[in-house]
Amino acid sequence: MFNESIVEFLIKHSKKNAVSFHMPGHKGGDIIAKHGYGEFLDNILGCDITEIKGADNLFQPESIIKETMEAYKKLYDVKYTNLLVNGSSCGLVASVLATCQRGYKLIMARNSHKSIFNAVKLGDIKPVYARPELLEEYGILGEISKDEIKRLIDENPDAKAVILPSPNYYGICSDIKEIAKHVHDAGMLLIVDQAHGAHLKFYDKNKAAENLGADIVVNSTHKTLLSFTESAIINVCSDRVDILELEDKIQSIESTSPSYILMASLDINEKIIRKHGQELFKEWKTNIKEFYCECEKIKGLKVLKHSMHDDTKINIDMSAYGLDGTKLESELIKRGIYPELVTGSLVMCMSGIGNTKSDYDKLILALVNIADKNVLGECVKCENIQSVALELTAVPTKKEKVLLSESEGRIIAESIIPYPPGIPLACPGEIINKEVIKHALELRGNGYNVIGIDKDNKVFVGK
Ligand SMILES: Cc1ncc(COP(=O)(O)O)c(C=O)c1O
Repeated sequence: MFNESIVEFLIKHSKKNAVSFHMPGHKGGDIIAKHGYGEFLDNILGCDITEIKGADNLFQPESIIKETMEAYKKLYDVKYTNLLVNGSSCGLVASVLATCQRGYKLIMARNSHKSIFNAVKLGDIKPVYARPELLEEYGILGEISKDEIKRLIDENPDAKAVILPSPNYYGICSDIKEIAKHVHDAGMLLIVDQAHGAHLKFYDKNKAAENLGADIVVNSTHKTLLSFTESAIINVCSDRVDILELEDKIQSIESTSPSYILMASLDINEKIIRKHGQELFKEWKTNIKEFYCECEKIKGLKVLKHSMHDDTKINIDMSAYGLDGTKLESELIKRGIYPELVTGSLVMCMSGIGNTKSDYDKLILALVNIADKNVLGECVKCENIQSVALELTAVPTKKEKVLLSESEGRIIAESIIPYPPGIPLACPGEIINKEVIKHALELRGNGYNVIGIDKDNKVFVGK
């Protein structure tokens, strides 16, 4: 038994007025009300309706929902947009199922989100893993190179599509333009998981997959922009995609009671960006630039810098002060700042359109204070095993549960996935090794969610 309920937790948290450097992008602030939609927020229960007369229908859009879809199409300058009420997860599963038939191959990033592994399982599709580069300096995974994609396309000319995240959770983008050329030369389709980059079209257009030749781009507008959690959009940018097939797959997996609150939040997001985007993105860029300048003044503090980096994902390393990511995160939380993700020595603070100048000032103040209270020079070495390439065999058809600590050498039957970031440490068919076991147990020991490991620390392996 816990001493509070979900609602009690949420009310208590909202009263803390904590600074949000995690999803969603509106950051719980006043950005939506400030731009004219306070009435919607005040009447949220009255707006929570179903498909009554005049309300249109997400699965046969003809009026108000159609209008929002058309408005997004214009906003992102694409050929087709659909609204999603079950997150990018739903759009990614639908994209894979619509482009890859049963038994066919999909070239997919090994650091893909869980939803893509789900699609592969649901569609009985054969995954071919593209390995991302390792950014050794930071201990995280980087881009998927065009050469890796080219190699896999050459080795698997029968694959139907390629799917990869850009940007990834840490903000590292891949060279979508060059990758798209290879993919299209081979007659395949390119799907970009832009869950973390819905803002790029407006914030940094040279990194937006819609501008770089992708066929399908899935955006979590809730992560960095203004719509509510679980709302997202799917953009189709070329004539290569069978839209009827895509719609059929979306409708096969999406809730048949789509939330009007979520759809309205997508409507609001589109309208605010269209009308006020210019000033909002300019302000966001200025705040980010000033923030990084302030970081440089803190001796020993390191932030991730990379030519392919979307700088709105602020990755901070204070291991020079003896703080690993977990310790730095708790120091920030003590000071009322909630980050998005910890990996090894890095704490990722995810900024969004709703962050104000004062949020960045508070983050800097907290970092200065943490630096003052700790000793520079007490370096801590953090292990990160994101790069481990496990040997892949066939996915087991029969499974059993065993203790994780006793699973070395066994074939994994259900993915082991730290959440966040939702990228599997071990996938079905892979042979688990000592390193992964040690890392997964450490994550559990530090209180992180790891999907696929039960409360008794057991995992599914092949029987
Ligand atoms: C890389 C990546 N893709 C897709 C998703 C799924 O997005 P959503 O939460 O909108 O379903 C996530 C979620 O965090 C993600 O990190």
